Amino acid sequence: MPSFLRSLALGATLFSSLSLAVRPVEIRGQDFVDTVTGKRLMIIGVDYQPGGQAGYKPQERSDALTDADVCLRDAALLQSLGANTIRVYNVDPTLNHDECASIFNAAGIYMIIDVNSPFGGESINRAEPEGSYHVGYLGRIFGVVENFKNYPNTLAFFAANEVMNDVPSSKDNPPFIRAVQRDLKNYIAKHADRTIPVGYSAADVRPILEDTWAYYQCALDGDQDDKSRSDFFGLNSYSWCGGDATFETAGYDVITEMFKNSSIPVFFSEYGCNEVQPRVFNEVSALYGEEMTALSGGLIYEYSQEESDYGLVTINDNGTVSLMTDFANLQEQYNKVDISLIQSTDPSSTSIKAPKCDSKLISDSGFSKDFDIPEPPEGAEDLINNGVDDGYVRGKLVPVTATKVTQKIYGTNGNEITGVELKKVQNDDSNVPSGQVLNSGEGGSNEDGGQPAEPTKKGAASTLTVSGGALFAVFAMVAMFL
Ligand SMILES: *[C@@H]1O[C@H](CO)[C@@H](O)[C@H](O)[C@H]1NC(C)=O
Ligand SMILES: *[C@@H]1O[C@H](CO)[C@@H](O)[C@H](O)[C@H]1NC(C)=O
Repeated sequence: MPSFLRSLALGATLFSSLSLAVRPVEIRGQDFVDTVTGKRLMIIGVDYQPGGQAGYKPQERSDALTDADVCLRDAALLQSLGANTIRVYNVDPTLNHDECASIFNAAGIYMIIDVNSPFGGESINRAEPEGSYHVGYLGRIFGVVENFKNYPNTLAFFAANEVMNDVPSSKDNPPFIRAVQRDLKNYIAKHADRTIPVGYSAADVRPILEDTWAYYQCALDGDQDDKSRSDFFGLNSYSWCGGDATFETAGYDVITEMFKNSSIPVFFSEYGCNEVQPRVFNEVSALYGEEMTALSGGLIYEYSQEESDYGLVTINDNGTVSLMTDFANLQEQYNKVDISLIQSTDPSSTSIKAPKCDSKLISDSGFSKDFDIPEPPEGAEDLINNGVDDGYVRGKLVPVTATKVTQKIYGTNGNEITGVELKKVQNDDSNVPSGQVLNSGEGGSNEDGGQPAEPTKKGAASTLTVSGGALFAVFAMVAMFL
């Protein structure tokens, strides 16, 4: 082959590796699994809702994933922190999220998207589940699927969050949530080109917690393909408070025992008790340690400081960000975890079959034993078969060109941290804690965290950019000759 053709072929190969896309993930048994490598994915996540619930402003055509400058700033910080997943609570499916989704994708960060919103008619109302399960509601949540189904970093959808938050609310609601899961999964099967898992995010309310999980993991008539089952179970867990807590005192032993035999992945969809501040997050080493491998990691509540006082960073009114001590503490904990070891473990080959749904699976807590799942409301079949209308935006990845964060970032001591930028991950990998410590705040950039030497992503990524540029020059020259 003439050498210039060889260069072209080589160039094409390298160029295609520049079009980054994290590898899609699917569920196998108890695990989230990378569909390409077959390795397990542990969720190392942060709940992301800048501005809190009030940050969701569809009337101003804005939600957490509509401002590319903000997403670049936050993706760069979350990447440096070591996160591989965010959870986003409220999105408007009539808005375009391409830039933000592409930025998080380039950072190697997956997204778990809640399909609901706090607005009327946009969630199952726990006080009136039957009246709120209607075709208008389904149109909205199918719109969210349309909006996010084409992003490779869409990891999963939450069909509902904490609808059952006490015994009374666990009486009538459960069959409706199963109905919503069924409808979402039927919609995804018909309109997406890959499976996207659907599940429920539960409040840690005893005694209904175990019943909630038992109710959602079971299979109607034992049919393992039953669409109304949850594909995974998220637990909002705040039982580990302060640095003195232990695996036992925090009740992590009970949780681990409860979910050890789960037929579906279980992870913390929120965690990080704030009763003792600053938080030291030593539950991180428990969650990713040997004893809790049955769980698939978790998401820290939450990225930004809001009224509820759980922030890792403060977003200042002028758009700058100040890292809080919690950010530094969490980064230190993430850096201690041997994530690559956990993720490289082959997923459990013996997957546990979902038990057949039966009232015997549910205790006498008062939780529903009703497995008679409501039929889809009028008009739903048509939506599922033919798709939602064009008022909903169909998302797609777009090139990410800017990587430098333009807003100023301040360390915990108030000094500016310079040189914060998004490092595009290579080889379609997802992000992992890098050993970096982003908190020097001394005009210098990122200090080395004292981890064993490992090439930083920064160096590697810039090499890639340079060789891409050089190859482009080769292309241009070859093109001139032809
Ligand atoms: C888990 O499964 C094993 C083996 O089937 C069984 O012996 C054990 O009791 C189960 N544990 C729980 C908590 O259900
Ligand atoms: C932005 O606001 C923060 C908090 O009020 C302040 O400390 C910082 O100096 C401001 N930065 C700029 C660039 O205006």
